[in-house]
Amino acid sequence: MSFDLVLFGGTGDLTWRKLMPALFQAFRHGKLPAGGRILAVARDERSDDEYRAFIRAKFADVDPSKQPSDEEFAAFAQALHYRRMDLSQPEHYAGLKQWLDERGAETVVLFLATSPHLFMPICAQLGTAGINGPNVRVVLEKPLGHDLASAQEINRVVRASFTERQALRIDHYLGKPAVQNLSALRFGNALFEPLWKRESIANIQITLAEAIGVGTRGDFYDRTGALRDMVQNHALQLLTMIAMEPPSSSDADAIRDEKLKVLKSLKPFTAETVARDVVRGQYKAGTVDGAPVKGYLEEVKVPGDSRTETFVALRTEVQNWRWAGVPFYLRTGKRLPGRDAQIVVNFRPVPHPIFPGANRANKLVIKLQPEDGLELHLLAAKGSGTNEMLVPVKLDLDFDRAFSSERVGAYERLLLDAIAGRLNLFVRSDEQEQAWRWVEPILKMWAEDPNGPRTYAAGSWGPPASSAMVARDGCAWDEEQ
Ligand code: BG6
Repeated sequence: MSFDLVLFGGTGDLTWRKLMPALFQAFRHGKLPAGGRILAVARDERSDDEYRAFIRAKFADVDPSKQPSDEEFAAFAQALHYRRMDLSQPEHYAGLKQWLDERGAETVVLFLATSPHLFMPICAQLGTAGINGPNVRVVLEKPLGHDLASAQEINRVVRASFTERQALRIDHYLGKPAVQNLSALRFGNALFEPLWKRESIANIQITLAEAIGVGTRGDFYDRTGALRDMVQNHALQLLTMIAMEPPSSSDADAIRDEKLKVLKSLKPFTAETVARDVVRGQYKAGTVDGAPVKGYLEEVKVPGDSRTETFVALRTEVQNWRWAGVPFYLRTGKRLPGRDAQIVVNFRPVPHPIFPGANRANKLVIKLQPEDGLELHLLAAKGSGTNEMLVPVKLDLDFDRAFSSERVGAYERLLLDAIAGRLNLFVRSDEQEQAWRWVEPILKMWAEDPNGPRTYAAGSWGPPASSAMVARDGCAWDEEQ
């Protein structure tokens, strides 16, 4: 299949940090369709060779396992091209159209790896220039808006040039292998589905923890905060994958319809429930991995009086027959004890324990990071005798080890899907808008709240109020159990 992939923002961070390494991995794995062209577009003047040299040098900064040898890079670089464009100039889009038309590739993918304020003008210009035929798809990276109204405005402008099925919204968490495995676990195996409901499940916990601080992104982060950066998108997308009903097929819209239903079933927040069920925090100085680190307010480009949250923990419910009354706890934060992303499904304990130690419950842990795997925690009898004590044991499936040679990174997967036109892992505009609708009361209450976020020491699991919120239900976060 012939394709042209155009990377707007071709010299930017996202391109060289994530997209080029992912494209190179796809090439190395033999998955990038042969004969495709990758056109980087940016403002300054460069030749194709100068651009190739720029990308080659940037590879030194990426994960060593993703660095090409000189021969590999030379082969990969044949597909790389560069074009100078001033994105405000209609004639530059006309030139791009001509470049694309001369080849007439079967598929054209336009990846907007630019600053988000350019999404609307670029889409409008692409439409005017006629770069929006049925073989064209446009890929948009988060952040897509900062609230419901701004997200709707972006969607309105994108829809003026592209149909819904041509507009691919990336949530890179959906590209993570563990998320594919979550679908496989639920809909490819008969074992868990009968248990996947309120009668058997006590609570579900989604944790997206990072040890890093905001680094050099203080400026962006301070305008964004953890709720917009991680909850509105990544955490809610994981929640939909856990809570959705089995779709009628693997068709993208069959899946996305079910995910949307979950988002619509989330218990809406009120002023009272925001105060009770949402905890926001901001890190102060502390210790991570044995090294002292500074507090958020001391970070570069963060105002000394910032009220931006770097931690959120919340409790919600999915209001339908399957999940009524089951708490879903979500938490995410920077400067937590480690890079640890996981979903824990806590099952109910046995109704009538007859063995000592049998009041502990089973749990299923879906690990996204640092390793990707599944753990099923059971109870087993240790030793012999009449007064047998049950002890926790786990069945541990390490996907990284099991499928080591075939692991595909999130961006690699999503770029290949965008080229192939597989839409399952992209977020539809109604899902994205519904997620904004749900978080808006929290944003509103926080803006009106004279108290800022609670502080927590870097390297801890957030403010103690997070544990207290869960403890109110008689539950505990996974690491406290
Ligand atoms: C991004 C956020 O979407 O996800 C970052 O903007 C965050 O703040 C990142 O660090 C986490 O992604 P991952 O894949 O490293 O867990």
